[in-house]
Amino acid sequence: MRALPDRRGYFGEFGGKYVPETLMAALDEFETAYRKLRRDKSFARELESIAHNYIGRPTPLTEARRFAQLCGDFRLFLKREDLNHTGAHKINNAIGQALIAKRMGKRRIIAETGAGQHGVATATACALFGLECAVYMGEVDMARQELNVFRMRLLGAEVVPVSSGSRTLKDAINEALRDWVTNVRTTHYILGSVLGPHPYPMIVRDFQSVIGREALEQIRKRTKKKPDVAVACVGGGSNSIGLFYEMLPHKSIRLVGVEAGGRGPNLGGPGVICGAGLSQAVQGLVDGGCGELALGEGQHPVIPRGRGQRGRQLLTAAAADRGPAQQREGYVAAHRGADRAQLLLGQAGGPQFVAGEQGRGGVGAAPGEPGGHRDPLGDGDVDAAWVGPAVPERCA
Ligand SMILES: Cc1ncc(COP(=O)(O)O)c(C=O)c1O
Repeated sequence: MRALPDRRGYFGEFGGKYVPETLMAALDEFETAYRKLRRDKSFARELESIAHNYIGRPTPLTEARRFAQLCGDFRLFLKREDLNHTGAHKINNAIGQALIAKRMGKRRIIAETGAGQHGVATATACALFGLECAVYMGEVDMARQELNVFRMRLLGAEVVPVSSGSRTLKDAINEALRDWVTNVRTTHYILGSVLGPHPYPMIVRDFQSVIGREALEQIRKRTKKKPDVAVACVGGGSNSIGLFYEMLPHKSIRLVGVEAGGRGPNLGGPGVICGAGLSQAVQGLVDGGCGELALGEGQHPVIPRGRGQRGRQLLTAAAADRGPAQQREGYVAAHRGADRAQLLLGQAGGPQFVAGEQGRGGVGAAPGEPGGHRDPLGDGDVDAAWVGPAVPERCA
């Protein structure tokens, strides 16, 4: 798994490039630039310096003692990606890709965003490097994430409302791709999740793997051991693969991905990404399409399966591996369980994440097994305005 993808961009049967011919050259150019730059010492130094002096890395590892006591007998550590500049892990990848774009001589960046965090991170990277920035966003998401729209505009980005289809993320992705096809010579598309055609899954994974690298080192220093379990929420897969990637060689660490179950059976409800209509399989997000993330009794092990060609190329990368050696698990977080866990965490002195369904799922559905778990978890604050007003009522 650590050696993947192969030269054609496949993770086993997943991956590859299924895009219009016009974009093939841009993807090749991006991959070539990345492969060259990752061996370039000056690029590594620049990235490291920005990570340290601008993003605020390394992020702390906070032990949530009281919360762990409420849940059982184990130690719980939170990898505080919310303490990055702009409030989430998305900045790790946005800065990395913007830096590549700058070195490729591209002056314009486009991105798409749903929750707004990736848009804010991209707008921030563009402001830092003096690049033009346009962020596509569905009108429904714009209304939901008003604050992040405001932040992007403050940073000098153009936020382009998308009124087609369901007016959410997948429509924004379509519009961003249309823009890229038209402006490919001057423009780089910063994708924020482990999705899309090769080389995006590989590059996003690599820029996010700083999370797991730091977490492993920090937890070893604090506990003199490796963690038993690593839990992360799975939306587009970037924080989870960021946490898991460095842990893959350590067979004793259980890797658990948690996806939001949402409020109801219908697509489009908060947190429901693609769970509607399929009763047995636990669903994983594959860029607007669906992939089966975990099948069978007890919802494990995780066996991602693409659905047709679209699903195949748009890989959900939390654990795209069928290897039997290491158990990887997928869970769907029940809405109420995630709510409850979020409140308990805040009230037990932990960070007050307001992270929408995805992030809270990471806290809410950590499997309660006996014995010394140590669970780093990547997360951040989003959806404050959306979730906030309901909180006093739920506390009662
Ligand atoms: C704070 C936060 N956590 C998690 C996610 C889910 O995305 P991913 O699975 O790519 O980390 C998002 C997406 O915007 C986010 O903003």
